[in-house]
Amino acid sequence: MAVVFVLNGPNLNLLGKREPEIYGYTTLAEIEHGLVAAGQAMGLGVDFRQTNHEGVLVDWIQEAREKAAGIIINPAAFTHTSVAILDALSAFSGPIVEVHLSNIHKREPFRHHSYVSRVATGVICGLGGSGYQLALRWMAETLAEPDAGAHWSPR
Ligand code: DQA
Repeated sequence: MAVVFVLNGPNLNLLGKREPEIYGYTTLAEIEHGLVAAGQAMGLGVDFRQTNHEGVLVDWIQEAREKAAGIIINPAAFTHTSVAILDALSAFSGPIVEVHLSNIHKREPFRHHSYVSRVATGVICGLGGSGYQLALRWMAETLAEPDAGAHWSPR
């Protein structure tokens, strides 16, 4: 069974308690449970992780080279700062979906730029926890196509 890594960056462990007017009341554990269940229904393994540390995210992205068919990533604040995460993702050859709960383009100007978008196959933002579900559905469709590479390789 193909496995998708779902990687979450700093402060996302506080989801549900942190600025709920921006990020909502759904917790990260609830997002994870919904995603694992959806993965099972679609025949995809979901390896869901969160860290507050940039280097740990880099290590996980490198691990994905061996273990994952695709990556869904919400790098949180590192989205806007991390060349190290951009470089690690550039060395991953499968599809990458960047997800943000909030619409980063509606927020402060420093959130409008994403290093990760340079290498993401696609970006979903502003749809709350549903963004992860939509990303996983796209992954399932893309990974199931025999010529999936043709659709996502240009990046
Ligand atoms: C976020 C948006 C980022 O700008 C912010 O730093 C986060 C969460 C989101 O999911 O909306 O921590 O990635």
